[in-house]
Amino acid sequence: MSLKGKKILLGVGGGIAAYKSCELLRRLTERGADVHVVLTPSAQQFVTALTFQALSQHPVHTDLFNLTEESEMSHIKLADEADLLLIAPATADLIAKLAHGMANDLLTTVALVARAPVYFAPSMNVNMWEKDVVQDNVKTLLSRGYRMVEPAEGYLACGWEGKGRLAEPEVILAAVERHFSGAGAAKKKSLAGRKVLINAGPTREFLDPVRFLSNPSSGKMGFALAEAARRRGAEVTLVAGPVALPTPEGVRRIDVVSSAEMREVCEKHFPKADLFIGTAAVGDFAPAMALPQKLKKNGRALRLELQPTTDILLSLGKAKRKGQVLVGFAAETEALVSNAKEKLKKKNLDLIVANDVSQRDIGFAGEDNCVTLIDRGGNATPLEKMPKAAVAERILDAVEKLV
Ligand code: PMT
Repeated sequence: MSLKGKKILLGVGGGIAAYKSCELLRRLTERGADVHVVLTPSAQQFVTALTFQALSQHPVHTDLFNLTEESEMSHIKLADEADLLLIAPATADLIAKLAHGMANDLLTTVALVARAPVYFAPSMNVNMWEKDVVQDNVKTLLSRGYRMVEPAEGYLACGWEGKGRLAEPEVILAAVERHFSGAGAAKKKSLAGRKVLINAGPTREFLDPVRFLSNPSSGKMGFALAEAARRRGAEVTLVAGPVALPTPEGVRRIDVVSSAEMREVCEKHFPKADLFIGTAAVGDFAPAMALPQKLKKNGRALRLELQPTTDILLSLGKAKRKGQVLVGFAAETEALVSNAKEKLKKKNLDLIVANDVSQRDIGFAGEDNCVTLIDRGGNATPLEKMPKAAVAERILDAVEKLV
């Protein structure tokens, strides 16, 4: 794809992978992009401004307080003129500064001023990458609309093996191309005017006033989708089971407890929705009878009679009118794709997100997810493991083509 006419600001952080940014720059300019480069002070310990100047054919920007540079191209103008800010490599330090709105060098200042979308490609030691504080900072950036090009796994310059390698230049280039071809253009408010209904979290099916059947769903996947849809301009209603998550800004939240309550609220709001996304782990069974008083133990085994709950998605699939889009999830521990395809058909869905919940670090309650998107034509697109906020963006990229 040609990037002719696209102004890209390439921010280079101080890591050993900074040398790969030279290759990235070469590929961007080869495609016709007009690239200006900002090097952080520590990046200059690894690579020279001269290399980037020769490859970009523009002076390289390094200093927040350089009066000559300021008069030629101020940091405000640098930020204003860019169609995209691409930070590669993004070190743990840079990610932390960006996540906390710091602006103590030229790159972080430009990032704070920029209204253009920001992509960042992390690169660091695997142990650093896995630290909660780094992951929290990454999540903060993703929740604020930054786009990440996932680090790769493999041999790291520090001698360790694992996740943390800067994505290869062609992978970063592909993300940039996807962005300009429309797939990543969140700034377009691509769901403006659309009404989106999402359910999330678990349900509780009470047996007596203090005991219930439930599951470990945290609501994170559904809340990430609600937040992402809102950022794309949609009017979002989120029907939430019992979860401990804050309501995403601008989202209307309706709290429910049981599957029957969740069904009632979803059915009530569905007729006006353009899009429904069923991420909730709705209880499939409920006690046949909920006792009004706490059940006493008597030392003997207890047999519970359960009855199936009504399948919310199935009932919405039957009620679906022309123009409405229905997206479901399939939580599977085996035969992921074939089981998901069956659910897609049975529930009259337009897209199903097949979720392998047999692994502990993805699916229920985890920070990350790893899913396969399957459309009505049976086409399956497996996505790599990534934070739930990033999964939400990819799901919406696919859904946008349907609404
Ligand atoms: O909440 P998190 O901790 O972030 O975890 C996310 C998740 C693992 C819960 C989520 O990614 C997921 O996989 N959600 C679907 C869980 C589920 O119930 O899957 P299922 O295969 O049993 O059901 C298929 C679909 O039917 C789902 O969209 C479900 O919401 C819907 N369903 C199921 C039963 C029922 N009574 N009514 C329904 O609408």
